[in-house]
Amino acid sequence: MPGRPAGPPPVAPVAEGPRTYLSPYRPEDAEEFTARARESRGLHRPWLFPPQEPVAYAGYAGRIAEDPARAGYLVRIRADHRIAGFININNIVRGAFLCGALGYGAFVGAAGRGLMSEALGLVVGEAFGPLGLHRLEANIQPGNAASIALVRRAGFRLEGYSPAFLLIDGAWRDHERWALTAEGAVPDAGRGAGRGA
Ligand SMILES: CC(C)(COP(=O)(O)OP(=O)(O)OC[C@H]1O[C@@H](n2cnc3c(N)ncnc32)[C@H](O)[C@@H]1OP(=O)(O)O)[C@@H](O)C(=O)NCCC(=O)NCCS
Repeated sequence: MPGRPAGPPPVAPVAEGPRTYLSPYRPEDAEEFTARARESRGLHRPWLFPPQEPVAYAGYAGRIAEDPARAGYLVRIRADHRIAGFININNIVRGAFLCGALGYGAFVGAAGRGLMSEALGLVVGEAFGPLGLHRLEANIQPGNAASIALVRRAGFRLEGYSPAFLLIDGAWRDHERWALTAEGAVPDAGRGAGRGA
């Protein structure tokens, strides 16, 4: 990814690690987010379908901001503030469950560098800290090796296998059910992730 001069962050970080920080989805991020999503279609398909055009981004970011059952974070690179990817917590149920389901994607150029691992550690810290959740789920198709590696690295455990679990790209897809509870989370995992590259 070409570097941009490092100035101050365009938005106050929600949480910071050595190489990444989390920021909220903002209306003014529409152009960068969707350009990066279009560049990343080959990486994302057939697993993930993030908004490709600014108008779709506006609806997507608006739903995340307004829905108390969701929390969403852009993953930004500290060195140049570019958007490396995103991690959302969906379907948040409170009461005696205190659980949310993860959705995430890296953008090309940022993938495979440990940035998402670091950022996932930051999101886990937010989930079990300020958001007050007790459990995070990640439901992943069995062939999605990079996604399985990401959650395994973050300490999630495989709980089971659900046939025809989610409707994705027009078909009901089987999913592995990975989860992490607050008791199993490594404190400050995001700050320690990465090997300094
Ligand atoms: C799933 C996804 C977000 C994972 O992102 P990622 O970039 O692979 O995750 P990381 O940033 O943690 O990168 C990990 C890789 O970087 C490598 N790496 C390089 N430098 C590193 C560093 N300093 N620290 C840690 N890892 C580093 C790791 O070795 C690892 O590669 P490996 O698995 O070949 O060993 C990404 O593959 C993606 O967007 N997939 C498509 C969308 C998708 O499937 N979403 C989820 C649907 S369930």
